[in-house]
Parts: sequence; C-alpha cells; structure tokens
Amino acid sequence: MFPSHSVQEWLVRPIVQVAVHASQFPENVQRALLASLRTRRINHKFLYDSIKGTGKWLALHEAHSPARTDPNCAETYEKAFVATARLTTAQRIHVIGLGCGSGQKDTQLLKLLNQDGKHLSYSPCDVSLAMVLGACQTVSAVVGAEVCFPLLCDLAEADDSAAVFERQCPPDASRLITFFGMLPNFEPQLILPRLAALLRPHDSLLLGANLAPGRDYAAGVQRILPQYDNKLTRDWLMAFLLDLGVERSDGEFRFGVEACPQGTGLRRVIAEFHFKERRCIQAADEQFEFRGGDAVRLFFSYRYTPDRVGGLLQGHGITVLDQWITPSEEEGVFLCRRTG
Ligand SMILES: C[S@@+](CC[C@H](N)C(=O)[O-])C[C@H]1O[C@@H](n2cnc3c(N)ncnc32)[C@H](O)[C@@H]1O
Repeated sequence: MFPSHSVQEWLVRPIVQVAVHASQFPENVQRALLASLRTRRINHKFLYDSIKGTGKWLALHEAHSPARTDPNCAETYEKAFVATARLTTAQRIHVIGLGCGSGQKDTQLLKLLNQDGKHLSYSPCDVSLAMVLGACQTVSAVVGAEVCFPLLCDLAEADDSAAVFERQCPPDASRLITFFGMLPNFEPQLILPRLAALLRPHDSLLLGANLAPGRDYAAGVQRILPQYDNKLTRDWLMAFLLDLGVERSDGEFRFGVEACPQGTGLRRVIAEFHFKERRCIQAADEQFEFRGGDAVRLFFSYRYTPDRVGGLLQGHGITVLDQWITPSEEEGVFLCRRTG
C-alpha cells in the first residue's frame, strides 16, 4: 500500500531543506521574547521552540494527551479521517499541517488518503525545527522526502502565510489543511482571521480542539483543570524558565480558570509562575526584574464546546460541515470549508 520510502531512508539523508519564514528569523524571535518578558505574558511558541521544550512537550503529550491515552479519542480521530478521506476524491492532495507537532495525526490522515494511486504531498509547519523534522520523519513512511516541504513559521505573526502556502502547493493539488490542538492556544480574534485568509474556497480544513465536557460550560472547564496541574506540565513550563535563568526555588506554579479578556464568552485554563524571591533576568541587552509577589503567565488553553467552535468559525466565514466528538466530550474534530 505504501510507496517505497521508509523511515530508515529518511534517517540517512544527509540534508533536509527546511524553509524559514521571516517570522522565525532570529531578530524577530528575539523581539517576540522581549515583548513576552515586558508584558509578563509568554508567547506560547517559546514553550516549544527549543530542543528541550520540544522533548518535554512530547513527553507530556505522550503521557496526558487524550489522543494518546484515550482509545475512544484515537477512534474519534480515525473516524474523522476516514470520512474526510472518503470525501477527498481529488487525485493530487496537498496536506498542510499547521502546528504539526510530531506529525502523528497528519501521518494517520495521510495513510488513509494514500489509496487508489493518489499523489500526496505534505507541508509540515511549526515554530519548532525539532517538530518539523520529527514530522518529516514520522510521515516518511507515506510521503517521500521529495514531496515533503517543511516550513518554520510563526502563524500568529505571518500575515502573508496565504501566499507562502500557495507557493508550496503543487499545481492542480487539492488542499487539506490540518489545525490540531492549536485553536486553544491562540487568542481567537488573532488566529481566526489568519486561518480564514489562508483558506481558499475549495480547501478543506480539519480542526481539532479541546472541549469543555457537559452541559454546564463553566463547570466543564473547571472539571478538566487537573489535566494541566501535573508534574510533566510543570517540567515543560519550568524548562523555559530555567533557560532564562529562573530557579525552581524562585516561586511556584499556579493553575486557574479565567474568562476570555476579549469578551468572547470563552473560558480558559491558565498557568502562571508566582515569584517568591527577587530574580533578575538578562535577555539581549535588557534586564528584567521580578519581585516576590510578581507573576508571569506562561500558558493558556481555551476550552470550547462544539457550538462555540461552530459559532466563532462562522463569524469568520468558515462553516463546519461535519464534526466528531469523543465520548468524554473533551475533544472534537471539525471538518470545515470557507463560505464567506
Ligand atoms: C498543542 S501542540 C499540537 C501538535 C499537533 N498538531 C498535535 O495535535 O499533536 C501545538 C504545536 O503548535 C506549535 N506552535 C505553537 N505556537 C505556534 C505558532 N505561533 N506558529 C506555529 N506553530 C506554533 C508548537 O510548536 C506545537 O508543535
């Protein structure tokens, strides 16, 4: 069923070409880091974009992500992928993995698309070099290196991403864009217009989002809070702080739930580091001082419900055509098209 490429072949390749968008050029990354430290609101990308950060997140994902630990969740993704593959009748298909991570979900999808002699190509896109290379390797059993176009890009910063992906897509190919586990980590007002701008009229979008279970939305968000308040999450977040020069003994992590500051009605889980001791950090040529009682927000994760996903997307001209919700109601996969 699969072509002759193999992970082994991929591993012995001496060179892999990775395109780097300006949003991930060192001066822009440094500017974003300084902005994060000044506002004490850390841009999520810094939690992933080092080799250490990637490794810690993958360990956390393996241990706690429902996609890895809940067979019903894996089955829900499988159902969504089977249905999407059935609907995708084009002979040439280009899959764009936005925030591809390790590429496991994209690979599962590509395996199902890889039938009836279809020609597949793939653009894994992420802020982390370790992630895009990992995704190329994971997908290499299905998609050959010659049609795999890895891209380092900050999707929140890149306002020209539509043109970038246009150039990467082989002519005549139908495009299928994946956006798994990404929606919760962005302000909706920022990422949804970006996503809408990226989608061409006949593209399909498969979006996976963490959900709040049950009928009572606020109670549902509160219920999933313990999923974040655990050792592997603290280790992952601490790796970023240690790199900056913060010590574990400087403070403590606190997890909580808050309403979306932009009044969308959404709620989100947040993780903050509260300083007990004074700490000075040097980044580029700037000094940052944190005193006992100061806090830095490291992470947030919006929790949606299927209705809230549909409503917000619709507001940006994206329509949900079908959806698959896990029995736990904690995760959903949404097949969408642009209508506006
Ligand atoms: C929660 S993980 C999801 C990974 C994968 N899609 C999955 O479902 O397993 C988020 C991914 O988004 C990437 N990421 C975070 N911020 C990003 C940004 N601003 N632009 C592009 N990728 C980003 C991270 O490096 C990470 O791989």
